[in-house]
Amino acid sequence: MSKTLVVSGGTRGIGRAIVEEFASNGVDIAFTYHSNVQIAEDMIAELSERYGVKLKAYHLDILEPDSYKDLFKEIDKDFERIDYFISNAMISGRSVVGGFASFMRLKSKGLMNIYTATVLSFVVGAQEAAKRMEKVGGGAIISLSSTGNLFYTPNYTGHGNSKAAVETIVKYAAHELGEKKIRVNAVSGGPIDTDAFRKFPNYEKVKDEIVKRSPLSRMGAPNDLSGLCYFLTTEKANWITGQTFIVDGGITFA
Ligand SMILES: NC(=O)c1ccc[n+]([C@@H]2O[C@H](COP(=O)([O-])OP(=O)(O)OC[C@H]3O[C@@H](n4cnc5c(N)ncnc54)[C@H](OP(=O)(O)O)[C@@H]3O)[C@@H](O)[C@H]2O)c1
Repeated sequence: MSKTLVVSGGTRGIGRAIVEEFASNGVDIAFTYHSNVQIAEDMIAELSERYGVKLKAYHLDILEPDSYKDLFKEIDKDFERIDYFISNAMISGRSVVGGFASFMRLKSKGLMNIYTATVLSFVVGAQEAAKRMEKVGGGAIISLSSTGNLFYTPNYTGHGNSKAAVETIVKYAAHELGEKKIRVNAVSGGPIDTDAFRKFPNYEKVKDEIVKRSPLSRMGAPNDLSGLCYFLTTEKANWITGQTFIVDGGITFA
């Protein structure tokens, strides 16, 4: 029987690359969207035809972490099993005002929104996924993280701090879920050219600086992270848990 992936934020950027990677490897996929329902529908039509896998899309708001409970109940109606869960979705725009800011402009509401969307949503989503994985004898959980908690990135205090928290939770979850044969890891990306990154002030200037610093002379692309995400769900990664893997084109050390 085919394995099933649940991934949040599958419509754009890294999440979309993850959907394509797993679909091309014959995995059925339940993915979420927030505003782009049409993109989700187009992806289902295109990828199910191209790869012969089952795809379904569901609305999710990661600012309401408990909505993951209803989401998984809906997924239960459509898929017989859940093997992998990837927490990828991220908020941007108005909800990060006061969170995506320089230190003296930080506001508790913006910081809390980022914490809720990044950390609390990961916890509830992973809990719901783990309950289902236990029934099928194990599984793999991954959270996207970011090297913005390793080196200074302007305006990134809120995101960097929440990603650091996620990496800690990954270690605790891995420790406690290991006996159920559920592995938990984080994939931490350097700067990846997506809509989220293009919202940085001075995007072109920041991009030029990154390309200059990069040993590989380029920014990351969404599919630079999706291959590792897939590998971490395979049997070849059976003894890998509680880790954060940096995929940054060498930029963090540059
Ligand atoms: N870009 C980078 O440089 C970079 C580097 C390292 C790690 N990351 C991490 O990788 C992940 C994906 O980032 P990305 O750059 O690919 O993001 P992105 O291009 O901005 O895509 C965001 C995704 O999240 C969904 N989303 C937005 N608001 C939401 C909400 N309130 N509730 C639920 N879903 C929501 C969007 O759905 P709709 O399209 O339907 O609105 C979209 O699918 C994030 O966790 C990010 O922190 C990014």
